[in-house]
Amino acid sequence: MGLHNLTRFLFLLAVYIVSLGFFPKGVVGFACNWGTRSTHPLPPHIVVQLMKDNGFNKVKLFEADAGALKALGNSGIQVMVGIPNDLLAPIASSVNNAVAWVTQNVSNYISKNGVDIRYVAVGNEPFLKTYDNKFVQSTYPALENIQAALIKAGLGRQVKVTVPLNADVYQSDSGLPSAGDFRPDIHDKMMEIIKFLNQNNAPLTINIYPFLSLDADPNFPKEYAFFNGSAPPVVDGSITYTNVLDANFDTLVSALEKNGYGSMPIIIGEVGWPTDGSSSANIQNAQRFNQGLFDRIVKGQGSPKRPTPPDIYVFGLIDEDFKSIDPGNFERHWGVFNFDGSIKYPLNLGRGKSLVAAKGVKYLPRQWCVMSPQASTSDPNFAESMSKACTYADCTSLSPGSSCGNLDTRGNASYAFNMYYQTMDQRNDACQFNNLSMITKIDPSPLQSACKFEIMIDLGKHDRSTSLAAPIMERNSLVMLVSSFMFIILLSLWI
Ligand SMILES: *[C@@H]1O[C@H](CO)[C@@H](O)[C@H](O)[C@H]1NC(C)=O
Ligand SMILES: *[C@@H]1O[C@H](CO)[C@@H](O)[C@H](O)[C@H]1NC(C)=O
Ligand SMILES: *[C@@H]1O[C@H](CO)[C@@H](O)[C@H](O)[C@H]1NC(C)=O
Ligand SMILES: *[C@@H]1O[C@H](CO)[C@@H](O)[C@H](O)[C@H]1NC(C)=O
Repeated sequence: MGLHNLTRFLFLLAVYIVSLGFFPKGVVGFACNWGTRSTHPLPPHIVVQLMKDNGFNKVKLFEADAGALKALGNSGIQVMVGIPNDLLAPIASSVNNAVAWVTQNVSNYISKNGVDIRYVAVGNEPFLKTYDNKFVQSTYPALENIQAALIKAGLGRQVKVTVPLNADVYQSDSGLPSAGDFRPDIHDKMMEIIKFLNQNNAPLTINIYPFLSLDADPNFPKEYAFFNGSAPPVVDGSITYTNVLDANFDTLVSALEKNGYGSMPIIIGEVGWPTDGSSSANIQNAQRFNQGLFDRIVKGQGSPKRPTPPDIYVFGLIDEDFKSIDPGNFERHWGVFNFDGSIKYPLNLGRGKSLVAAKGVKYLPRQWCVMSPQASTSDPNFAESMSKACTYADCTSLSPGSSCGNLDTRGNASYAFNMYYQTMDQRNDACQFNNLSMITKIDPSPLQSACKFEIMIDLGKHDRSTSLAAPIMERNSLVMLVSSFMFIILLSLWI
C-alpha cells in the first residue's frame, strides 16, 4: 500500500470511527417493561419478535424469568433484570446469597444464552410509602452485595446496578420543581444509595406516573398530564413547565443538585398510561399520552433542566390479567398492546413507522360463554355464580367508568362468565354456572363499544410451537460445528 493509499485508508478509518461515535445507535430505539403476571402469557419468542418489530431495543424484567431471558438471548435487545423485593432481605444478609443470585440469574444467561444483560435492578420501588418501611433497611446492603457479586463474576464493567424507585422518594414543599428534595424520612437512605451508585458509575432509576397524579386527585389539571395540553403553565424562575412529567423529573434533578449529585445519570424505569379500569384510563387518553411520549423519544427531547433525554422504559409492553389490583382496577391494562400482542390503538413511531401486532398467535376456538336467555338475574344462584367467575378471572373491565361499565346486569353476567370460561381455556365444565350459562358461537361483544368479549390464546398450541424452536437451535449448533471443523482443516493446511 503506497503512502497516499495508506493516508486515505487512515482518513476513512478515522471518519468511520468518528461517525460511530456520533451515531452510536443508528436509529432511535425504544425501551419497555415486560411483565409476566398473566394467566395466558404470550410465548416469549413471540414477545421478543414483537419488540424487535416495533423498535424496542431495551427491556426491563421484574424478575429473572427463565423463559423471557432465554428468548432474549442473541436478540440484540439489552436487558435490565430485576430482583423482587422479597429477595432483598436474603440477599442483604449474605454475600453468598448475592453470589448465587448473580451466578444463576446473570452470569449463566450471559455466557450460556447470549443475553445482553446491562443492569440489575435491585428491588422494585422498595421505598414506596405504602410498603411502610418494610424494605428500607435491606435495600442498601442488598445493593452492595449484588455489586460485589457482579465484580466477583467479572461483570463489574458490563453490568451496572440500579434501584428503581417510585417518584414518591422526592417532593417539593413549594410545589415548584426547583424546591425538590428527597423525602425527609428516607433522606439518609437515599444519599447512601446515590453515593454508592455514583461511585460505581451506575444510574438512578425513577418511575414517574402522570396517570396516577391525575387519577388520584380530582383537582389535578387534566391537560397538565399530557404533552400538548392547554393547562396553565407552571412558572418556576426562568423555566416554564407545561407538563407534569417534565416538572416531576426536574424536581428529582433539583433534589440531586441540592445534595451534590447534579450530574447523576437518571433512567425513567416506568412511565405509561392504562386503557381501562378507571374513568381516566381509556384508549383516548392512553393514545394521547403515549403518542406524546414516543414523539419526545423520537425527537430526543429531554426536560428543561436535562435537555439530553434519559432512557425511558414504557410501562408496559402487554397487558397482564393476573396482576394485583390493590392499586386499582387499571393495573391490568397498562399495555401498549393487549395481552395477545394485538394493537389497542395506533401509534406513530417516527420515520413513517407504526405499531406492528404480534405474529403467530394461536387462539382458542371462536366461542364464548354467556348468560343463557332462559336464566333469570333473580335466580338464587346468580350472585354466587357471578362472584365465582370474578374471583378466578379478570372482571376489571366491568368496573364503573371502564370499557364494559355500561352493560346491564345480564351483560355483566355474560362478560364475567366468558372471562372465566376463557381463563379456564374453554374447559367444558367452565361454562356451567348452575345452568345460568350457555356456549355461543356468535360474538357477544356489544356493537359500537370499547367493550370486548375476549377469546384467549391457546397455550397448548403455543407449547408445541415453542418446542419447534429446538431444531433451529440444533441447526445453529450444526453451523457452528461445520465452521469450526473447516477452520481446523484450513489451519492444518497452513501449518
Ligand atoms: C434467580 O431468580 C429467580 C427468579 O427471580 C429466583 O426464583 C431464584 O431464587 C434466583 N436464584 C437465586 C440463586 O437466587
Ligand atoms: C394532542 O396530541 C394528540 C395526539 O397527537 C392529538 O390527538 C390531540 O388533538 C392534541 N391535542 C391538542 C390539545 O393539541
Ligand atoms: C356489573 O358488575 C360490576 C362489577 O361486578 C358492578 O360494579 C356493576 O354495578 C354491575 N352492573 C350491573 C348493572 O349489574
Ligand atoms: C341443570 O339443569 C338440568 C336439566 O334441567 C338439571 O337436571 C340439573 O339439576 C340442573 N343443575 C343445576 C345445578 O341447577
